[in-house]
Amino acid sequence: MKTVIYDTDSSSLEKAAQVIKNGGLVAFPTETVYGLGACGFMPQSVNKIFKVKGRPNDNPLILHIGSYEQIYDLALEIPEQMSKLKKFMPGPLTVVLKRKDIVPDEVTAGLNTVGIRIPSQPDANAFLKMCGVPVAAPSANISGRPSPTTFGHVVEDLDGKVDGIIRGEVCSVGLESTVLDLSTGEPTILRPGAITREMLEEALGIVYTGGDGNRPKAPGMKYKHYAPKAPLYVVDGDILDEIAKYNGKKIGVMLTDNISLDGDIAIQHLGNNPQEYAHNLFKALRYFDSAKVDVILSQDIKGDGICEAVRNRLYKAANNR
Ligand code: TXA
Ligand code: MG
Repeated sequence: MKTVIYDTDSSSLEKAAQVIKNGGLVAFPTETVYGLGACGFMPQSVNKIFKVKGRPNDNPLILHIGSYEQIYDLALEIPEQMSKLKKFMPGPLTVVLKRKDIVPDEVTAGLNTVGIRIPSQPDANAFLKMCGVPVAAPSANISGRPSPTTFGHVVEDLDGKVDGIIRGEVCSVGLESTVLDLSTGEPTILRPGAITREMLEEALGIVYTGGDGNRPKAPGMKYKHYAPKAPLYVVDGDILDEIAKYNGKKIGVMLTDNISLDGDIAIQHLGNNPQEYAHNLFKALRYFDSAKVDVILSQDIKGDGICEAVRNRLYKAANNR
């Protein structure tokens, strides 16, 4: 399949939106990560997403919309908490609500709830408004790979496999949205993200944490994720001691501290503050694949706020917790 590249001027976005309306697949930038979109009302198009990504079909998709009013078409009831969350929508927050029957089972993997998000990135927002329909979209990576935060990452994974890719800017946040379940009466974080626990607690009072490993409430959280090709280990102690153990191997090291290292080591410094760690994490994981390292050693990410989300993705990539 020939993949068409669309720029972000409005006539190109209109063409990309037409592809969605005709049942095709288009990858598009958002402030979190790039998404792979299909019309959320066309089951056959939604099924193509699962096929292209190699995604298990018990893992539901988020519906992306351009304006808040579209929620009323999709959600059976709007819990009162929504009025306090409006300030995060548009933004990197997905709310899980009881769904109307109009939402196909293919989107929700048969659940009676649906995840809904309004991206704030201007090209995404313009594109979604042009689509008019809700756009079902997971992250635009092959399942199991780190989520794409640049146009180049999407090309790496999906060129030749989808109808179109919108060539937008680098994703500013760099981690997927916070998923908040509002369908049970107890607001529950199913996936941490840039809308942090502290921000949600300030808006809503008490907020719970969901998923227990065996029965995760966000089905996607049970799968191996973000895996770079080489094994990744999170190092709690002195990283220099750990590096010494891999003498003779091609080592990749992911750092938050300013440590200078000697020798033939592939280094990724995640940045100087938690926002930068979030922004750079997936790019760093993909870099280690291209550097063909045998092993990756990462410093641990501690702290609250967005660090909770960075740590969540890091441990999933390491698959060691
Ligand atoms: O930032 C994001 O959320 C990106 C961009 C493209 O918007 N999308 C994204 O989609 O990360 P995906 O499919 O890679 O992750 C969606 C997560 C999965 O863990 C899925 O199980 C969960 O949201 N999810 C979706 N619908 C759900 C529902 N009805 N109930 C519980 N979890 C749901
Ligand atoms: Mg994903």
